[in-house]
Amino acid sequence: MIISSTSDYRKAAQAKLPPFLFHYIDGGSYNEHTLRRNCEDLSSIALKQRVLKNMSDIDITTKVFGESFALPIALSPVGLTGMYSKRGEVQAALAAEQKGIPFTMSTVSVCPIEEVAPKLKRPMWFQLYVLKDRGFMRNVLERAKEAGVSTLVFTVDMPVPGARYRDLHSGMSGPNAAMRRVFQAMRHPDWALNVGVLGKPHDLGNISTYRGKPTKLEDYIGWLGENFDPSISWKDLEWIRDFWDGPMIIKGILDQQDAKDAVSFGADGIVVSNHGGRQLDGVMSSVKALPYIADAVKGDLKIFVDSGIRSGLDVVRMLALGADCAMLGRSYIYALAAYGRAGVENLLDLYEKEMRVAMTLTGANDISQLNHDSLMHI
Ligand code: FNR
Ligand code: LAC
Repeated sequence: MIISSTSDYRKAAQAKLPPFLFHYIDGGSYNEHTLRRNCEDLSSIALKQRVLKNMSDIDITTKVFGESFALPIALSPVGLTGMYSKRGEVQAALAAEQKGIPFTMSTVSVCPIEEVAPKLKRPMWFQLYVLKDRGFMRNVLERAKEAGVSTLVFTVDMPVPGARYRDLHSGMSGPNAAMRRVFQAMRHPDWALNVGVLGKPHDLGNISTYRGKPTKLEDYIGWLGENFDPSISWKDLEWIRDFWDGPMIIKGILDQQDAKDAVSFGADGIVVSNHGGRQLDGVMSSVKALPYIADAVKGDLKIFVDSGIRSGLDVVRMLALGADCAMLGRSYIYALAAYGRAGVENLLDLYEKEMRVAMTLTGANDISQLNHDSLMHI
């Protein structure tokens, strides 16, 4: 298959994966309005073309929290990554390291922290969800420290999981889900062998390590609903702030006041995000929320953004609207599902090339020169 972009990787991932996994990745919540808006609003932002400005030297590197980034991009946390490719978290983390950017491991990863972090020279980032079992939080934070995790990403937009209509239809959840998944796996023999058999164990590695017994995935969606804690508030974050010595980023901010509260709380960064349109359908796209949030808090903390980014041009748009760094979710997951680590490395090469072209033709020699003047406001 010829691969030139995220959408090609998406097609390749769809061919490779059993439908229950493809739709879990690809889908959003409810009727998926926000999921669509994320991409549509982003691609409608017009870049301003500038020419004849001697653009032979372009620098797209950056530094965040003292870490060097070869590109202003980090990989977002994605649950069950080890189900999309054999030991997927390891492969994605190695690809990110090879490209010189951070990988963020999800709380609900297949591979545990202890399997991934020792394989890397670059410190890993770790994303935390609050489970009702608060003992888990302390345990996992201690383990993250021990493994040299540098940055904690605290996700706050999933106190309860949004309704995912597609999951019921695809066999991710719903009636006879287990049996339907077996039939789907039989029709995807490459996945069945490489991930289904050779990619075991399939469980929530971080949680199993804490409990000392496997946390199986038969009813993963039900498990999320039962174990995530809707009572979470800023107060709960305080002991984490005290416990965690490194930078802490709050992920899932869409509102100006919440962004200001994150500054007051002492966060080092926020991720402007609607969870890729997977939580509250009907909320604003990330790209529309970003300029308001940047107006309120730019310079007070680092602004990351995700949801809808599918190309290097999208990264340039987000930086021009006030982000310090972009984060990729589905884009890299499609590449990983299609071709493993090599897919993610190639995808990041594509992003780099696309960013360089966009910067050449908007007249920005380095990323600090991307701002509202890089865009047409029509
Ligand atoms: C996610 N996301 C997510 N976020 C998080 O903080 N912890 C998690 O475990 C997960 N799990 C997860 C699974 C899958 C399959 C997807 C697609 C997404 C959200 C993710 O970090 C990110 O916010 C979105 O993916 C960004 O939107 P795009 O780039 O996918 O449009
Ligand atoms: C999701 C969770 C796990 O979006 O973050 O499915």
